[in-house]
Amino acid sequence: MSIIKVKTKLDEYKHRAYSSDINELSGRTNRSDITFFVNNEISKRMDFKPDDVLVDIGCGDGTLLEIAENKGSSCIGILPSEEEVTRVRERFLTKPDLINIEQGLASKTDLPDEVADKVVCNGVFLLLDEEDVNLALKEISRITKPNSLVYIGELCFRDETEGKNYGDSILKWLMWVLLNQGTGEFLSRCKQTLRALFTTEQMLILPKNHYYCTPEEFISRAKSYGLNINEHFPHKSISSNNEVIVSASRQDYIFIKV
Ligand SMILES: C[S@@+](CC[C@H](N)C(=O)[O-])C[C@H]1O[C@@H](n2cnc3c(N)ncnc32)[C@H](O)[C@@H]1O
Repeated sequence: MSIIKVKTKLDEYKHRAYSSDINELSGRTNRSDITFFVNNEISKRMDFKPDDVLVDIGCGDGTLLEIAENKGSSCIGILPSEEEVTRVRERFLTKPDLINIEQGLASKTDLPDEVADKVVCNGVFLLLDEEDVNLALKEISRITKPNSLVYIGELCFRDETEGKNYGDSILKWLMWVLLNQGTGEFLSRCKQTLRALFTTEQMLILPKNHYYCTPEEFISRAKSYGLNINEHFPHKSISSNNEVIVSASRQDYIFIKV
């Protein structure tokens, strides 16, 4: 049995690095289809070109790096723990010159000033605390070339934990999934639980709090760090039936560095 209660978001992803499925690093358990869809949407908007240097902060399993590399861009993926860096470097062993994976944080990448033609940071800001949000905006601005695009995705504009009163109880969580997400998702979560009970595959009980703020507040904050809003729109995902879902709680932003 391998059910682990983790205290921080950084610990969560460190543990995910030990899963047999590398997609766990995207945070989307058993849904690599969503990871591909989300990163493909980002790629369409960011229009990666040969000779672009892309920095993907919190690059998860590296899906976006692979998409951008196929378009001829040089890619740098940033991950917070040694465990994640090792795991994703293994994925790109055959392409070490084109895709570099480095250890760092959104608030401190250790990359040189103005290194990036494009910066993406998807699904990361919601994991940060208030103070790190400002540090991350400052850091992103520092590493981005003037007039270049920055994509910050999956930032919540409302508290996604509202109504999720299952705490750390797996049984209550499964009931919540059944009532709110339907039978398909319920069966998939039951399978995940059984695997954790009867195999070495781990299951994590996660911290529930997350960062959120209104678009107005986020746009104004980013502006104070030299990131001017270009466009923002609801985040899109897909259901298990491949239908496009428009998020009711997450927004994606594209900024231009002044
Ligand atoms: C929800 S996953 C998103 C992965 C990928 N960007 C995607 O959309 O498929 C969150 C990612 O952020 C990383 N992460 C967590 N805290 C971070 C921090 N403080 N700085 C940078 N990355 C962080 C995790 O390691 C993980 O790779």
